[in-house]
Amino acid sequence: MPKVYSGDLTRLFDISGKKAVIIGGAGGFGKAIAEGYAANGCSVLISSRKEAALKAAVNEIKAVAAPGVVVKYFACDASKEADIMACRDFAVSPNGLGGCDILVCAQGFNKKMWSWEIDTAVWQDMLNTNITSVMFACKYFGNWMKENNLEEGMAKPDPAAYEAGKATPGQGYGKIITFGSVRSIRAVGNGGNGNVPYNTTKGAVEMMTKAFASDLRPNIQVNSLGPTITYTPMMVGLLPPDEKVRDGIAAALPAMRIGREIDMVGPAIFLASAASDFITGSTIYPDGGLTAVG
Ligand SMILES: NC(=O)c1ccc[n+]([C@@H]2O[C@H](COP(=O)([O-])OP(=O)(O)OC[C@H]3O[C@@H](n4cnc5c(N)ncnc54)[C@H](OP(=O)(O)O)[C@@H]3O)[C@@H](O)[C@H]2O)c1
Repeated sequence: MPKVYSGDLTRLFDISGKKAVIIGGAGGFGKAIAEGYAANGCSVLISSRKEAALKAAVNEIKAVAAPGVVVKYFACDASKEADIMACRDFAVSPNGLGGCDILVCAQGFNKKMWSWEIDTAVWQDMLNTNITSVMFACKYFGNWMKENNLEEGMAKPDPAAYEAGKATPGQGYGKIITFGSVRSIRAVGNGGNGNVPYNTTKGAVEMMTKAFASDLRPNIQVNSLGPTITYTPMMVGLLPPDEKVRDGIAAALPAMRIGREIDMVGPAIFLASAASDFITGSTIYPDGGLTAVG
């Protein structure tokens, strides 16, 4: 188990030497977190569908990475089970990171559709991308951590000890961070702005996070980040291009602005570090106070 050090805050939050897989790692929040991790000594493997975007992101992450940090990518569609299994196999292999201590699920998309016009194919795609892909990632990386991230003295579980219908005997450690949203627990006011499908998926991710926290116990912490509206690539076209106009949308919030990608980095380091070892199944809302006043 990671130790909590007294009198040395930098060690409490230390993620150096760790290995993190970040799905959606070429996107707005995912890349910001990958840069934050790599700059603080944590090796990262980023994954999403578009190889060109991954290659460009790898170069940007390498530019800020601490010495010795490994930065890799693996192109895959996280909503496909075989792809996630291949991503895990590569990540834990010597050609990848050689292991996985931290999983961040920063994939997802939003397509606004008023309830009368919900397109069934898009709805299904959103469920697959925003919910099912998170389940696949938590299942395959989480259970790998449970069986392989063993503290000294812990025996590797014998496959013969596995019993159908029962939890695995593995007690390996790990950190898993999913992405919910303020929309996990707050619908949009004034008619909802076509957000029924997105809100549905984000509510599901928040509950899935709690359920995985219970399933992967006792040494894997599974928590969620619930940001507010932030001008990431996902929001280009949905938000005005002018920053002042965008921030005006959030004038009623305590923070009086919308989110920035970097707002997620501190909470993501906290949830990946020993400082959060007794926090599991929870959500942190780095939301400028939206859920406090909304
Ligand atoms: N921005 C906001 O205002 C906001 C607010 C609250 C919550 N969130 C949540 O934060 C997370 C990150 O969003 P973001 O704003 O950073 O969006 P983003 O910039 O669009 O990044 C999303 C990433 O997910 C990847 N992705 C999408 N579908 C995928 C799939 N099937 N398999 C693998 N990767 C896939 C995308 O890459 P490819 O397209 O190349 O696959 C992209 O790298 C999402 O879960 C989002 O719902 C965002």
